[in-house]
Amino acid sequence: MSNINTTVPDNRDLSNFPGEYGLPFLGKTIEVVKDSIAVCNDHFKRFGAVSKIDMVRGQRVLMCLGPEFNEAALFDKDGSFSSAGGYASSLGSLYPDGMLLRDNAKHKKTRRASQPSFKTDALKTYVELLNPIQSRRIDMLPKDEEFLFYDAIQETLMDVAAKVFIGLDEKSPEAQKLHKIFSNINKGLITPFPYNLPFSQFRKSLKARETLRRFITETIPQRRGTDGVDMFSRYCNARDEDGNYLEDVDIDGHMAFLLFAAFDTTTSALTNILYYLGTHQDWQEKVRDEINAIDNEMPTFEDVASMQLTEYVFNETLRFWPSVMILNRRTTREVEVGGYKLPAHTVVMLSPAFTHRMEEWWDNPHKFDPMRFSPERAEHKRHGFSYIPFGGGAHKCIGMHFALLNARLYLFRLLKQYRVELRENYNPDWLHVHLPRPADALPITLRRI
Ligand code: HEM
Repeated sequence: MSNINTTVPDNRDLSNFPGEYGLPFLGKTIEVVKDSIAVCNDHFKRFGAVSKIDMVRGQRVLMCLGPEFNEAALFDKDGSFSSAGGYASSLGSLYPDGMLLRDNAKHKKTRRASQPSFKTDALKTYVELLNPIQSRRIDMLPKDEEFLFYDAIQETLMDVAAKVFIGLDEKSPEAQKLHKIFSNINKGLITPFPYNLPFSQFRKSLKARETLRRFITETIPQRRGTDGVDMFSRYCNARDEDGNYLEDVDIDGHMAFLLFAAFDTTTSALTNILYYLGTHQDWQEKVRDEINAIDNEMPTFEDVASMQLTEYVFNETLRFWPSVMILNRRTTREVEVGGYKLPAHTVVMLSPAFTHRMEEWWDNPHKFDPMRFSPERAEHKRHGFSYIPFGGGAHKCIGMHFALLNARLYLFRLLKQYRVELRENYNPDWLHVHLPRPADALPITLRRI
């Protein structure tokens, strides 16, 4: 049984809480998009750990700041928080059957069927698919002249999505078409007017989602009974505990959401890693030394797993800029956390980035210091929910290991051959939402080593 009672509208009565709603219709969306961390800092200082705020279309939410709230909402030991309810208004119309839009038994079923695609054996096969894609795309990058890395990595990751997720030749016309459909769907997520009106972006996005649905459902029969190693084929051949294939609606819901969940998040992470390696050349050298110690042009899963310093850089980058800057849940009943009574059916908003910069939990939180993740220091273990770039609890990111693998492999190839340079005294403005990254798309120059 789902724990979201969709017949009950979101609770809007937050009169018992301090806070500030912002503008009619827009709430504080503009401030949050511009600098979500500043808004959290401001609310925390003026109102404490729990405060009310309005977001776009007047959605009324409780901002709940700090590890204690992260744990209560994400670990959710007694089913008091719904992920489906938290994301219904933002993702519900375009990804209604996505894993994050499901709770309890329905969620467990999808999650269980998806696990084989993310086990070590599967990850090992993805290394073989990723190597030639990344190699080709890195060869295509301009050398000794500036280009926008964010745009370049998007193309690379679209190739990865086509090949590893869907099982298409990344150079095929179908893959190119998929790229267009997918970016059209996602434009619908950031429009402030998500209404199905003639000529609106939102209508175009709904149509694109329908085209993707048709493509997926028409392709399912061709994939059944094959031994394809891509995620789509694995999912088409997965069976539930009674030995039945999954229903088309589950496969479509999962695949569409997987593309969404994987693509932007990794684009943001890799862009921001290059920002830090460009601004901290000493760290770029350390990572390169680690890479050069691997004596293999086509690194294996085990080679990649040995890149420890690279992992610390990945972690530290996501500490500053967790790709998903805001996590949402909706309470299913009144629930008490940290001395606050959160009313039933209330949307709560968590901020990983705020938590990742709390002085209470991190030494010198504004310093780029990847070694804080070393076993000797292990600052991220001071509280189970003070470091949550991949969430936590039942909905913890299923693609976490794939994301790290993909990033390490890409950095291996890039940094082994090239030095990454940024403009002198580069200090960009940052976009916070929909995904964090330098607003100018990170201009970089590659110099052959
Ligand atoms: C740096 C890259 C990534 C980051 C930072 C990230 C972050 C997250 C976060 C924070 C959540 C939990 C959201 C919540 O609980 O509200 C999540 C869930 C999810 N992620 Fe990722 N993600 C990344 C890459 C990926 C990749 C590569 C895939 C797939 C290959 C993926 C698939 C998913 C799925 C399916 C869920 C929903 C899980 C569930 O509901 O059980 N993610 N991700």
